[in-house]
Amino acid sequence: MPNKINSMMLGTGTAVPEKTLTNFDLEKMVDTSDQWIQERTGIQVRHVVDDKIQNSDLCAEAANKALAESGLSAADVDTIIVATVTGDVTFPSTACYVQDKIGAINATAFDIQAACSGFIFGLDIADSLIGLGKGKNVLVIGCEVLTRIVDWEDRSTCVLFGDAAGAAVLVPADNSGRGVLATFTKTDGRLAHLLCMPGGGTKYPADVAIAENLNNIKMKGPEVFKAAVKAMGDAATHILENAGVTADDIDLLIPHQANKRIIDATAKKMKLPAEKVYINLQNYGNTSAASIPVALTEAKEKGLVKAGDLVVMVAFGGGFTWGSAAIRL
Ligand code: ACO
Repeated sequence: MPNKINSMMLGTGTAVPEKTLTNFDLEKMVDTSDQWIQERTGIQVRHVVDDKIQNSDLCAEAANKALAESGLSAADVDTIIVATVTGDVTFPSTACYVQDKIGAINATAFDIQAACSGFIFGLDIADSLIGLGKGKNVLVIGCEVLTRIVDWEDRSTCVLFGDAAGAAVLVPADNSGRGVLATFTKTDGRLAHLLCMPGGGTKYPADVAIAENLNNIKMKGPEVFKAAVKAMGDAATHILENAGVTADDIDLLIPHQANKRIIDATAKKMKLPAEKVYINLQNYGNTSAASIPVALTEAKEKGLVKAGDLVVMVAFGGGFTWGSAAIRL
């Protein structure tokens, strides 16, 4: 029997800073090359926020665009979920600032953290809330300002990341068959140390973090790479089972945009041809929680997917976390 469909996605939107940083710019900053970055990751350019812009500003811009496409107003929103590891401040939640900036006066608002899997985890929560009747118009936003927590002297990480936001509005499904068919999330906290920012929390407060250079992204790249390939494959397998669909049914795969080689391995495992796999990491780098909603919005804008199409999203990130979602748009 097919799953009950709780929620559907009415609109999406993005916010992408204008300022860019190319591989050639990075060649002047660290011992790297455009060739190395392109061969190992596929990235060419990433976007970087101006000093005055905060995470919540990008969230608000993306949210307003998603609301406009949905035909809803900010006052209609009852829940705002912001997935981020780069919130404006340690507390309160960035979602509180977003609520204020967009004027969503009737909403409850909170953040979640699942690194690059954040948007999928947020979508899973939104879908559950709507299924339980506890939410009706839910905003899920993935946003990162990673360029503020990158160690610009560490060539193994500083070439990878960028800033952006993507938002989606989820509402109760109608009876058309459109909506979130299934979600899947998983965590393995034993591997948390392989990708993290140790400083700035209560373990290493800001003064200690600065003194010991702990207030930036630390990543064991090759270990993360191997885990990512395995976990993305696992997330893909589970979502097809959970949604009761096959890879042949998929109109477009939207994978987390971290590394082209990880995406290629996932597509190969799913036996998907290149034209069914959306890749835009060459223009953004890894924008963590923002990468999937940004890619989805772009794919819609390019006419690659339309209402009724089956989109599968697969993510992996720090934690380790991984997850997936199947949506009939
Ligand atoms: N430019 C030139 N050389 C470099 C650079 C660079 N930017 N960075 C590293 N190197 C060198 C290394 O020092 C090493 O040199 P050596 O052989 O002399 O020791 C060599 O290149 C190979 O380094 P590796 O780290 O083994 O390279 P690898 O092929 O693994 O690629 C990368 C590194 C791109 C980071 C890859 O491991 C990767 O993509 N990992 C996964 C990242 C990821 O997916 N993260 C997802 C989640 S992110 C999140 O949740 C926020």
